[in-house]
Amino acid sequence: MKLLYRLTTLALATFAVALPNPQYNPVSSSYLSWSLTATNSTAQLRGLSPVSNRIAWVSGTSGTILRTTNGGASWINLSPPFAGENASDFQFRDIQAWSEKSAVTLSIGEGNASRIYVTKDGGKNWKKTFVNEEAAAFYDCLAFENEKHGLALSDPVDGKFRLIETWNGGTSWKTVDPEGIPAALTGEFGFAASGTCIEAAAGRWYIASGGVDPGRIYRSNDGHHWEVSNQSSIAGGAAAGVFSVRFRDEKHGVAVGGDYEKPTGNANNAAWSKDGGKSWVKAGSFPGGYRSGVSWVPGRRDVAVAVGTSGSDITLDAGKNWHGIGNGTFDAVECVSRHVCWASGAKGRVARLELSTE
Ligand SMILES: *[C@@H]1O[C@H](CO)[C@@H](O)[C@H](O)[C@H]1NC(C)=O
Ligand SMILES: *[C@@H]1O[C@H](CO)[C@@H](O)[C@H](O)[C@H]1NC(C)=O
Ligand SMILES: *[C@@H]1O[C@H](CO)[C@@H](O)[C@H](O)[C@H]1NC(C)=O
Ligand SMILES: *[C@@H]1O[C@H](CO)[C@@H](O)[C@H](O)[C@H]1NC(C)=O
Ligand SMILES: *[C@@H]1O[C@H](CO)[C@@H](O)[C@H](O)[C@H]1NC(C)=O
Repeated sequence: MKLLYRLTTLALATFAVALPNPQYNPVSSSYLSWSLTATNSTAQLRGLSPVSNRIAWVSGTSGTILRTTNGGASWINLSPPFAGENASDFQFRDIQAWSEKSAVTLSIGEGNASRIYVTKDGGKNWKKTFVNEEAAAFYDCLAFENEKHGLALSDPVDGKFRLIETWNGGTSWKTVDPEGIPAALTGEFGFAASGTCIEAAAGRWYIASGGVDPGRIYRSNDGHHWEVSNQSSIAGGAAAGVFSVRFRDEKHGVAVGGDYEKPTGNANNAAWSKDGGKSWVKAGSFPGGYRSGVSWVPGRRDVAVAVGTSGSDITLDAGKNWHGIGNGTFDAVECVSRHVCWASGAKGRVARLELSTE
């Protein structure tokens, strides 16, 4: 494993394209580029949930929800109706889809703008299954460990992050007992930037926070009892911290962030863990700027892709070093297979990244 890892690094440095062992041949960053799809939307699309190389859902401002079933060749608008309300007041900053029929989406905001909608029939009908009633709550993101069990995260209420939980795919939600959640620090909050401030992976749950320096990363085995790492190795501040935390298995995680007001600020904006998020090590070479989302590439071991408003980067060594792959702006990224990542962002931008076909 070590040797192959070294070969990979070398290949990248010399821009070689192919390596002898395809199983560990991640990709060379030199030929990677995003292909934009025609969404015909101007919404900012921070919610992204590809189901496969062909099916993807995106969500965003003005209550917008779009879906493609042909790899992005065409998109249809499946936005819920807002009877008597103004769609402009709703921003769907996160979406989780299971198929072309089934999806759960989260609208963020103050008071009752924080909501959850569920569809089971491909967006023909949406059911409003949660409307926030707490003045202090502000929901940022949601995550599911399977089609039934999910958590949604709100900024702290009464000094602790607020979580609500579903066991039926988002149809009903209950507040998680705050008892098992550590106290938030003054000024701490989550970023509703890419739908990945909460993560479910390999039987664990994680929360990424900012507003404090450094940003923090919480972890839990059951979604109820949490511990927090005070040392994410990612710089925090009023507009800075950990924006996205993702795990590829029970041990290996990557986290990215930075300061969204400094899109090209490229210090202390990424870290990795190999102990399930207990401790974090800052990257050796950082992504090219503030990064709001990161995703492991399934089946490519140490490969992950990060995106932000100033560009995107790839790591071939599980987050230790990052290499730029473009300067197009995106907010969210999700890789669905060895071959395809999707990204979404401002002005209706949704793109696919084709990795090598090996
Ligand atoms: C694109 O959007 C505009 C404005 O909403 C609409 O008039 C037009 O028909 C759309 N085009 C396609 C190809 O959907
Ligand atoms: C909806 O909200 C937008 C943005 O605040 C505003 O420009 C628009 O006039 C509103 N539409 C209605 C029907 O109130
Ligand atoms: C949400 O709050 C607004 C204003 O506070 C109110 O007009 C509206 O009826 C509420 N909507 C729901 C679904 O509770
Ligand atoms: C993290 O910081 C908080 C607040 O300063 C402190 O109570 C807690 O013990 C620290 N946790 C660890 C694991 O160091
Ligand atoms: C992005 O990269 C392209 C191609 O290298 C270049 O032409 C363009 O000026 C860059 N844009 C920014 C904002 O750096």
